[in-house]
Amino acid sequence: MEFSWDIIVSLGLVVLAHSIVYVFVMKKRAKSIDGRHVVVTGGSSGIGVCLAMECVTKGAHVTIIARDEKRLKAAVDQLELVRQRADQKIQYRSLDIGGDYEEVARVLAETEETVGPIYALLNCAGMAICGVFEEVSVRDVHKLMNVNFFGSYNCTRHVLPKMKRAREGIIVITSSQAAMFGIYGYGPYAASKYALRAMAETIAMESREHGVSVTLALPCDTNTPGFEEEEKSKPRETKIISGGGGLLKPEDMAKAILQDALKGNFISTVGAESWLITMLGGGLLPWDGFFTNLLHALVIGPLRLVGYGLHKYFNSIIRKCAKEDRAGDKVESK
Ligand SMILES: NC(=O)c1ccc[n+]([C@@H]2O[C@H](COP(=O)([O-])OP(=O)(O)OC[C@H]3O[C@@H](n4cnc5c(N)ncnc54)[C@H](OP(=O)(O)O)[C@@H]3O)[C@@H](O)[C@H]2O)c1
Repeated sequence: MEFSWDIIVSLGLVVLAHSIVYVFVMKKRAKSIDGRHVVVTGGSSGIGVCLAMECVTKGAHVTIIARDEKRLKAAVDQLELVRQRADQKIQYRSLDIGGDYEEVARVLAETEETVGPIYALLNCAGMAICGVFEEVSVRDVHKLMNVNFFGSYNCTRHVLPKMKRAREGIIVITSSQAAMFGIYGYGPYAASKYALRAMAETIAMESREHGVSVTLALPCDTNTPGFEEEEKSKPRETKIISGGGGLLKPEDMAKAILQDALKGNFISTVGAESWLITMLGGGLLPWDGFFTNLLHALVIGPLRLVGYGLHKYFNSIIRKCAKEDRAGDKVESK
């Protein structure tokens, strides 16, 4: 009896010691953005405006960037409601971030003159146009790459060298769960988001030693004006495949992204499904923490079978839709 008590006490002490080491040594402390200049692209709508709200609530000076001035003004009015101090600067700039690099650099430099050096760049502007590969127009594919890839590239290209020189800074790149595996109807959109994933992985590795942290946000379906627009071009198959995951609130997505960015986590996902897809689809992604990596090592083998099952399921949806379409064609031709 005494022996088993010894074991229980020893185990308790081991757990306590590990908890203390985790909480006081390994657990990352969130950086503060109080009084720092944060730029949020796509800050007039959806996840972007929620990110900007979070930043203003945390006391940051915030510049939001988008194209439509009316929506930008409305967003600034919203941000004013959560202002923490009278001297907090909240402003907008109307800019096509996917346009000319020189113009993007000029506008960002001008915001730095008025508000101060950019401490955090939250790249959130983006769009989705869906469709079977050959049905998406060449013009739309260029538009997708311009906004999603070149938009984030242009802004990051301007701020990253300055952050490296200052030996501090935070960059968020907003990609998508669609950058984890190819999904029917997401071809060019997914390609633009895969490109962002590759860019984020590279600059994270290049910037860590210079004191700059990079976070790759991988949102799942989120209830935003952008998502509403995306639904219009989504093939039936894509709707069924991606619809199973439900719809997140943009506020929740934004909170998680900012929290991960301030803690310096590379990956930002919300929910068990996104975690599973990200882990399976990004086997070499740099997740932080020994215990996280140990967990992945233990579960990734068996979960590969879940991935196999998912693909089987998605293919059955595509087959069923094709059969229905063929049956519909036959009725029409009679
Ligand atoms: N919602 C989802 O389900 C979901 C899922 C995965 C990933 N994401 C990604 O998350 C990000 C935010 O999505 P959201 O759904 O919140 O989008 P949203 O509601 O459509 O907002 C997009 C924002 O980007 C701005 N924008 C678009 N093109 C721009 C350009 N060329 N230059 C400057 N600003 C531009 C828009 O303003 P203007 O049009 O006025 O410029 C708007 O402020 C996007 O990168 C999206 O791809 C979203």
